[in-house]
Amino acid sequence: METPYQNHIAKSDFEHVYEPAEDSFLLIDALEKELDIIKTKNPMFCLEVGSGSGVVITAFGMAFPEAFCISTDVNFKACEMSQSTAKYNKVLMDTVNMDLASSFVNGMFDVIIFNPPYVVTETSECGGMDITASWAGGNKGREVTDRLLNMIPKKLAQDGIFYILLIEDNIPEEVTEIMTTLGYKSQMVISRKVRNEQQLVMKFYK
Ligand SMILES: C[S@@+](CC[C@H](N)C(=O)[O-])C[C@H]1O[C@@H](n2cnc3c(N)ncnc32)[C@H](O)[C@@H]1O
Repeated sequence: METPYQNHIAKSDFEHVYEPAEDSFLLIDALEKELDIIKTKNPMFCLEVGSGSGVVITAFGMAFPEAFCISTDVNFKACEMSQSTAKYNKVLMDTVNMDLASSFVNGMFDVIIFNPPYVVTETSECGGMDITASWAGGNKGREVTDRLLNMIPKKLAQDGIFYILLIEDNIPEEVTEIMTTLGYKSQMVISRKVRNEQQLVMKFYK
């Protein structure tokens, strides 16, 4: 997968929006590894929740030009940046300033992607709509993630795939248990140690 053009973004804009980092690129690497499997699904509607700069969903859209991409973010400035990244890279994408995927029609997405705010913090730090929403994950770094997990059965198509980036502090085994209870199989797609943090991308499917 190609890395999207991003030189249109001023460095100072990343004071307000998550700057793509190792986790963003691990997620892109995971999607690249999965290209052939995703192709067999003929994806029509693809969603990235919490798109930040838009680098991940734009890379996805460049690989699947026939798919219609949608991104959401609670941070309005991130929505604007995602839109401009898609536009500069000629990817057809709509961006919605909303919480997770709450307002979409049920079962509409063939692929859902999420690189959540995963840092363990106090619950009170979690739930902002500015740059803090990029990292503050509350208890186990999972407060935002767990809310999305419970939405997946409603928003993902029957044969859809959900990709999520996690770190060890998030206790990925518990995420797998939750998804198993919701009726999904799980698989680890890729993992990498970044400084002292083990990052991994999991996929969930029926
Ligand atoms: C770790 S950053 C990832 C950004 C981008 N996807 C990337 O990989 O570079 C997490 C993103 O999720 C967004 N976010 C946090 N809570 C959210 C929520 N409840 N609904 C939608 N987006 C959310 C943040 O604003 C931030 O842009």
